[in-house]
Amino acid sequence: MSKIFSGIQPSGTLTLGNYLGAMKNFVDMQDGNECFFCIVDQHAITVPQDRLALRENSRSLAALYLAAGIDPDKSTVFIQSEVPAHAQLAWILQCTSYIGELERMTQFKDKSLKQKEGGVSAGLLTYPPLMAADILLYNTDIVPVGEDQKQHLELTRNLAERFNNRYYEVFKVPEVQIPKVGARIMSLTDPTKKMSKSDDNKKAFISMLDDEKQIMKKVKSAVTDSEGIVRYDKENKPGVSNLLTIYSICANRSIEELVEAYKDKGYGEFKTDTAEAIINVLKPIQERYHQLMESEKLDDILDEGAERANRAASKTLQKAMNAVGLVRKRR
Ligand code: AQP
Repeated sequence: MSKIFSGIQPSGTLTLGNYLGAMKNFVDMQDGNECFFCIVDQHAITVPQDRLALRENSRSLAALYLAAGIDPDKSTVFIQSEVPAHAQLAWILQCTSYIGELERMTQFKDKSLKQKEGGVSAGLLTYPPLMAADILLYNTDIVPVGEDQKQHLELTRNLAERFNNRYYEVFKVPEVQIPKVGARIMSLTDPTKKMSKSDDNKKAFISMLDDEKQIMKKVKSAVTDSEGIVRYDKENKPGVSNLLTIYSICANRSIEELVEAYKDKGYGEFKTDTAEAIINVLKPIQERYHQLMESEKLDDILDEGAERANRAASKTLQKAMNAVGLVRKRR
């Protein structure tokens, strides 16, 4: 049995990219493993958030986890800010990090460019040690994430090793798990860019809560190319290749099989069928989601999750504080 940890930011409604690159794999990993799935609200505030929207997005993300198939009897689902050990260990790990390595993170470079006008928050720079704390608190063996988080995971491993060498062995060094297909779902309007929930252009992403009409419209207007042939070529045909990837995972058919099936058909039919495959995956999730948002069960599950996570996290935090010397009494 392995320990699994992963988190998603409540920085908007999740996209199909978040689902295919991360959440879908969480569901598949539940059996036989001890899993912690977190709503990382403290990560979300590294960029400005409307307070009421953030509260709503955190609840909504919890409901989406459950609607997508996370079973609270098997896995712990909780909100990061309800487990203070995350912020406490993050401080220790910030003191273990070097400014230079944090400045090299591509997500920091990208997001700080967008924040330039109002000033760049220090939290944006120190986000990776908080992410490292999230993971290391649970003695995690495996972290399932999309490709964009690979660099942060490498830093997490470095910080764990550096801390263990500087003091003594406290942290387990986790492995990253990135899906073979779907690790980087691209924007529908600019297929050279990652699909992101905080994209200003709503046509660039499919939200997990988009209705059938919206999904059909967005897929139909997705940027492709003028060749008119459905084939996989990430470099020269990024738009069609992205749709093939999405269709392949949603319909559980290989990309080769799809290329063969559409070899004499145009983009119109290909796009309609891709949209239908997405709808077939998202519709049942949306139905369960709406039921959960209206039930009191959601809060009970999150209360129970916070309790379990606090219990597990406080043990590792205590060990790390001991190692550093943040204790009054000798142990
Ligand atoms: N386009 C994507 N394709 C595959 N996986 C993706 N992930 C994100 N985008 C894609 C994976 O989803 C998980 C949760 O991501 P996150 O919300 O913690 O932060 P993010 O990676 O920054 O995702 P977004 O949607 O781009 O959020 P914003 O716009 O707020 O920054 C991670 O495992 C991530 O790899």
